[in-house]
Amino acid sequence: MNPFTLTDGVLHVENLPLTRIAETFGTPCYVYSRAALESSFADFQRELGDLDALVCYAVKANGNLAILNLFARLGAGFDIVSGGELQRVIAAGGDPRKIVFSGVGKTAAEMEMALRAGILCFNVESAPELERLNEVAARLGLVAPISLRVNPDVDAKTHPYISTGLKENKFGVAHDEAPAVYRHAAALPHLAVTGIDCHIGSQLLDPVPFAEALDRLLTLVDALATDGIALHHIDLGGGLGIRYNDETPPSVAAYLRPLLAKLAGRGLKVLLEPGRRLVGEAGALLTRVEYLKPGEVKNFAIVDAAMNDLARPALYDAWHDIVPVAPHSDVPAQAWDVVGPVCESGDFLGRERTLALAQGDLLALLSAGAYGMSMSSNYNSRPRAAEVIVDGTHAHLVRRRETIAELFAGETLIG
Ligand code: LLP
Repeated sequence: MNPFTLTDGVLHVENLPLTRIAETFGTPCYVYSRAALESSFADFQRELGDLDALVCYAVKANGNLAILNLFARLGAGFDIVSGGELQRVIAAGGDPRKIVFSGVGKTAAEMEMALRAGILCFNVESAPELERLNEVAARLGLVAPISLRVNPDVDAKTHPYISTGLKENKFGVAHDEAPAVYRHAAALPHLAVTGIDCHIGSQLLDPVPFAEALDRLLTLVDALATDGIALHHIDLGGGLGIRYNDETPPSVAAYLRPLLAKLAGRGLKVLLEPGRRLVGEAGALLTRVEYLKPGEVKNFAIVDAAMNDLARPALYDAWHDIVPVAPHSDVPAQAWDVVGPVCESGDFLGRERTLALAQGDLLALLSAGAYGMSMSSNYNSRPRAAEVIVDGTHAHLVRRRETIAELFAGETLIG
C-alpha cells in the first residue's frame, strides 16, 4: 500500500497534506503512515492464516517505540541484534517470549539480559558463541533456547553489502559444519536446541533464492532428526524487497506460498524476520530546499536533510524517489543533484533528478521508512530528525527533534 498520494496538487500521507506536517514539526522529518504499517503486517498475517507461525519484526529497520508498539499490538514478535534493541522492545510493550536474538557478536552482558527477560530463542552464529551462552546460562541457573543460523551458501542476488548467505560472508555456521555444531550444542547442559534459522540478504526481488535456502535447511533438519536432534521451529529470516524505483518486488503471497508448501506437514513452527517490507514503503523523509545552486556542469539543490539523516544513497548508492510536495506548473523542470549540507561530496540524496524546483520547496524522499532513521547519525553535529506517524488526518509526534544540547550532554572537559 502506498500511503503517499497527490491530492488537489499537494502530496498527502493518508489524508494529511505534508505541507501541514512541515509547518507543525519542521524539517527534516520522517513521516510514517499507520495504515501502511498495519497493512504490510496484515499481508503476512493473511498468508500465514492459522499456521503455527510468528512474524518477528526486524527492529533494526526502524526501532521507533511507537512503531514497535503498533506491531506488538498486532501480535508481532521481534528480531533483535543488541541489548539496546531488547530494551526498546520491552519499553514498547513487546512480549519478550516472542523475541529472537540474532547477531554475530553478542556480549555476555547482552546474553544475560536476554536470558533474564526470557526470550524465545538465541539465533547463534558460531561455535564459540555456544560456549559463551552455555556459560552465562549456567551462571544464572537457566537454560538458553537456541537455534543455529546456518549459512546456506546461496546467492541472494542483491547488493554485496546486504548479501549475507554466501560462504564469504561473516554470518552463520557453514552448512557442512552445522551437524557437528548441533551435536555439540545438544550436549551442552544449559542449552536447549529448539530451531534452525537463516537470513540470506536484504532487498531480495526474486523469491527463488529463499526456496533454495529453505531446501538446504530442510536437508539439515532431516539429517539432524536421524541423529536424534528434533527441531521445533524454522526461522526463514527477512529480506523481502520493496519498491524504490521501478522494481517489482514479489507479493508476500508469491514469496511465502512456495515456502509454506515445502514446510507443509512437517510440524515445524515457522518464524519470519521481515524488516524493510513492513516499514519501508510506509515512510518518507520530508525535507526543504534551502538553496538552488545551478552550475556549468551540474545543478545542485541543497536541502536541509543530509547523509546523516538518510545514509543509504551515500552508503549503498541507493535510489530513493524524490518528489515535490507541491509541484509547480510555472517552473521549468531541469536536472538537479539533491544534496545535503554535510561537508562531503558523498552527501547526496539523489543525482540527476528532473525536477521543477524553487527555493523553499518541500520534497519527499519516498520508501524511507526502513534503514532511514535507524541508521541516522549526528555527523556535523546535526540533531536527528523528528518522526511523525499519521493516522488519517491526525499527526502524532513519535520522536521529537533532538536538541543541540543533547548532542554533547555526555561530554566533559578535562582539567
Ligand atoms: N534478520 C536478520 C538476521 C538480518 O540481518 C536482517 C537485516 C533482517 C532480518 C531484516 O532484513 P530485511 O527484511 O529488512 O531485508 N541497511 C541496509 C539493510 C541491512 C540489512 C541487515 N540485516 C539497507 O539500508 O539496505
